[in-house]
Amino acid sequence: LDEFEFNNVQIDQHGPLAVLTITRPKALNALSADTFSEIAQAVNLIVEDAEVGALIITGSGDKAFVAGADISELASLDGVYDGRELSLAGQDVMHQISSLPIPVVAAINGFALGGGLELALACDVRVASTGARLGMPEVSLGLIPGFGGTQRLARLVGAGRALDLMLTARQIKADEALAMGLVNYVADDALQKAREVAEAMVKHAPIALSLIKEAVRRGLDTTLEGGLEIEADLFGMTVATKDFREGVDAFLNKRRAEFQGE
Ligand code: HXC
Repeated sequence: LDEFEFNNVQIDQHGPLAVLTITRPKALNALSADTFSEIAQAVNLIVEDAEVGALIITGSGDKAFVAGADISELASLDGVYDGRELSLAGQDVMHQISSLPIPVVAAINGFALGGGLELALACDVRVASTGARLGMPEVSLGLIPGFGGTQRLARLVGAGRALDLMLTARQIKADEALAMGLVNYVADDALQKAREVAEAMVKHAPIALSLIKEAVRRGLDTTLEGGLEIEADLFGMTVATKDFREGVDAFLNKRRAEFQGE
């Protein structure tokens, strides 16, 4: 994975962890069209690699995770159709990330604004650095969030908090983000903490990890009853795995489980 060359992103692999870094520090890692397409390609490569058990997404430099969609590119948008297409294309990439079968942790190492916060929202868990700033500044540009933000932010922190953030465009600090559940952890070194969190995930059974993600994601789209049915179906699938036998056998024999993802 380390061998692939991109212009706007970089992939590093550390054992079972892949780290996808957005590498446009001069533009505070803003999401240009090229960056989006490279993220999509990189994510495909990562998920096809059987050795990778979890993905961390971060930004290069010490200032920004991602400062949003690239505003110089937004400037050339013209008309309803253009805007709708851009939104749908961005939503697709965010959906690709949120539906990956492996855990995805955002290491928010600085500004996560607009499309940058939307990228973090497409991840499963968010770690912010102590100095990170998060916000949805779209209204200050006459826009609304378009890469899933109106939906994912409200689902994560509730409609009231989401509306406050989106209608005021205010930037919040990491501790306020933590208090409202927008991020899961705050640490001096977001990437290091994200690695620890991802390590704690990858030692568990891979199929169970992916089915938990699926149950939560599909359940949020339906009623409680529908969600409980989804849970029972997916629970049934875990019972049919070799990893379930291994997990139970390891517990009963007081040894560490060795999961194979089968
Ligand atoms: C393009 C950007 C950028 C962006 C920063 N830069 N954000 N370029 N798109 N989103 C560039 C600046 O132009 C500048 O380039 C360099 O990065 C450093 O930024 P500065 O503004 O000089 O830094 P600073 O003064 O410290 O301010 C940091 C900042 C500010 C508060 C994060 O850059 C900022 O407000 N950025 C825009 C944030 C934003 O509005 N994002 C939402 C975009 S809309 P030069 O060449 O001058 O050095 C969005 C919509 C998504 O995401 C949905 C669409 C469908």
